[in-house]
Amino acid sequence: MKILITGCRGQLGTELAKQISMMDSPLGKIPAEYAGAKVVGVDIDTLDLSDRKKTVPFILDGGFDLVINCAAMTNVDGCETDYDTAFKANALAPMYIAEACEASGAKLIHVSTDYVFAGDGTRPYTEGDVPSPKTAYGSSKLAGEQYVAQQCRRYFIARTAWLYSLYGKNFVKTIIGAARKNGTVRVVNDQIGNPTNAADLAYHLLKMGVTEEYGIYHVTNNGICSWYDFAKEILRIKVPEAECLPCTSDEYPSRTPRPKYSALDHVMLRATCGDEMRDWKEALQDNLKDLDV
Ligand SMILES: NC(=O)c1ccc[n+]([C@@H]2O[C@H](COP(=O)([O-])OP(=O)(O)OC[C@H]3O[C@@H](n4cnc5c(N)ncnc54)[C@H](OP(=O)(O)O)[C@@H]3O)[C@@H](O)[C@H]2O)c1
Repeated sequence: MKILITGCRGQLGTELAKQISMMDSPLGKIPAEYAGAKVVGVDIDTLDLSDRKKTVPFILDGGFDLVINCAAMTNVDGCETDYDTAFKANALAPMYIAEACEASGAKLIHVSTDYVFAGDGTRPYTEGDVPSPKTAYGSSKLAGEQYVAQQCRRYFIARTAWLYSLYGKNFVKTIIGAARKNGTVRVVNDQIGNPTNAADLAYHLLKMGVTEEYGIYHVTNNGICSWYDFAKEILRIKVPEAECLPCTSDEYPSRTPRPKYSALDHVMLRATCGDEMRDWKEALQDNLKDLDV
């Protein structure tokens, strides 16, 4: 099998490549179909995916069986101030990738986000709920989903949320750094969602990639919490001497509106490849035991 991982330097891309090379994950062995797979990784320094003239031939010439698109502009505030770049990375790039996958016969796994929803839910969003993004990041990612669905047939769209890993920048590392520096952190307690360990997500993407169960998936860790609950649990394990105080979104103004409630329900995983996503606290504990900060 030949696999293209885009955004290979990012959190998810790095985790995927590791699991394929080790044929293993914290949730157990990955499917046997990946044994001996050749993985090609690209990132912004090697291939700007928003350049159609480069992206389409690269995929057509590559002879890939599976393309996993982890590339994105993930800086939510940056998307708000530079929508053109956000649209290129989050909407046009997936369109070109999907066009090339359709033409070459490769399956496509495209990663998306809870930000496609309005974020004012009262129960976890299902894959059948109607997206209504409130941010530039969310609307550019929704456009990317729609282009993927228009351009190719053999696609999996996997929406995730609150992603962290051993690699790159994320909330877990930021909160540990802030707690060590300041002794006290204040974290919003009125935004609710699902923290997600990239290792759990990668394992499920690899599981779905060997099926023909195409469609839209929600893939987050199980269990729902606020950012404050998440921070409190991180610090309980990693910086127990630090103080963690709850605050409201009004006390912590941000340039971009953040979802108040964007937990995701995993209807498609349960109906197809199986939902083995761990509870968020268990997955976090597993990450923190290996996190060298
Ligand atoms: N992080 C989260 O909390 C979160 C939550 C929900 C969904 N997601 C989704 O999950 C996926 C993976 O996220 P992640 O946290 O692993 O992302 P990440 O660490 O930010 O990695 C994304 C990579 O894509 C690269 N990239 C950006 N624009 C590109 C372009 N035009 N062409 C080629 N590469 C480009 C980025 O380069 P630069 O760093 O130089 O921009 C970066 O190396 C993304 O689709 C994201 O939208 C993430």
